[in-house]
Amino acid sequence: MEEWQPRDAKAVWHPYTQMKTGGNPSVVVSASGAWLQLSDGRKILDAIGSWWVNLHGHTHPKLVAAIQQQVAQLEQVIFAGFTHTPAIQLAEKILQHLPWQAKVFYSDNGSTAVEVAIKMAIQYWHNQGEVKPKLLAFQHAYHGDTFGAMAVSGRSAFTLPYADNLFETTYLPNPIPQNTKEIEEIIIRVGEEGKTAAFIYEPLVMGAGGMICYAPEELEFVLTLAKKYHLLLIADEVMTGFGRTGTLFASDQVAPKPDLMCLSKGLTGGFLPLGITTANAEIFEAFWSDDRMKTLFHGHSYTANPMACAVGVASLDLLEDPEYFQNISRISKQHQAAISRFQKYPWVTEVRSCGVIFAITLEDGGKDSQYLSWVGPYIYQWFLDKNILLRPLGNVLYLLPPYCITDAELNWVYQTIETFLIDWENIQMNEPLHPGAIYG
Ligand SMILES: Cc1ncc(COP(=O)(O)O)c(C=O)c1O
Repeated sequence: MEEWQPRDAKAVWHPYTQMKTGGNPSVVVSASGAWLQLSDGRKILDAIGSWWVNLHGHTHPKLVAAIQQQVAQLEQVIFAGFTHTPAIQLAEKILQHLPWQAKVFYSDNGSTAVEVAIKMAIQYWHNQGEVKPKLLAFQHAYHGDTFGAMAVSGRSAFTLPYADNLFETTYLPNPIPQNTKEIEEIIIRVGEEGKTAAFIYEPLVMGAGGMICYAPEELEFVLTLAKKYHLLLIADEVMTGFGRTGTLFASDQVAPKPDLMCLSKGLTGGFLPLGITTANAEIFEAFWSDDRMKTLFHGHSYTANPMACAVGVASLDLLEDPEYFQNISRISKQHQAAISRFQKYPWVTEVRSCGVIFAITLEDGGKDSQYLSWVGPYIYQWFLDKNILLRPLGNVLYLLPPYCITDAELNWVYQTIETFLIDWENIQMNEPLHPGAIYG
């Protein structure tokens, strides 16, 4: 089996990986529940739901069956001029949970769901004779890696080489409570200028920016102002959707409802790539016309892939079982109880939790305290050696486990984190910078 690693090194370019220093990736041969089976015989606990996609555990039998059944019937068909039952069923189900939304538009992943939302927002105004090319977003936002999604993300190492290619976005500072006056001033200025189509935000938890958690009332303050100044609201729930924050959607916890929503990741339970942008009736009506120039000219070859939609329906079926949310609240309670356990360490700057998301910010010697912080790759390797997959965002160590994780598994992870924190002072003093920085 180990012959696969050199073959990988020769042929494959991995995402978010500095290929020179990244070391050999682990070869996964199978997976079940929260566990990954490696080719070298080791089993690794997937404590981050494989980049936040996996909800119910790997190879969940109901989801496997849904795909098997669908693939034998219809694997893929053009989605312009044609439709199919899995796409209709999934759209209906999603809209049942989002009564403030009217239509579902399919695409392929989180970034494309964001691209579509941005295009809908800009064209909503264009179709009514108004030119509003700009967007408003949070400073530490992350909305994806395609150009539109990068343009509305915070400017960072991820976007630096393309800075001149990104359209103009105005940023709101965060944390919100410390910046209310400035936020208000910016929204008033942007609103009066009349060139900004929409405000895009990750509700309650800003993921890749460092699992920054903020309260529903803080978001309500910003959304109420944005609405007052006629900005469309785009909720990017690519990460927060499908139970992550304790409710099906984070937007459920906030009174002002978005005009557009972006969904992906957990949408298919983490089985197949699929994106959704939902729009309210007002947005949709701005495109409804005899004038073909008012069409949304957007679509992807695999739009609404039937297998992805079928597994999306099966995943929502599981989530709709009331007992299922007890599972989510079990994990949330465990996280809440664990906060004080880690807060006592002097090199822990902050511990926070929202739903099934749990995050610890570490003091990293003040070197760079961001995504490129040296401690990220170090921690990654330390935990991988202990058979736990964590993939810190710089100096932010976080858990985002599939909902099937047991109390015993979770306690083992907390215990291992505690061992790490106890060791951390020694590690900082004695260990050289880890030579094989796994990612960068
Ligand atoms: C909030 C948010 N939006 C968009 C994306 C992009 O999704 P994808 O990686 O599927 O393109 C991500 C990915 O992490 C995300 O967290």
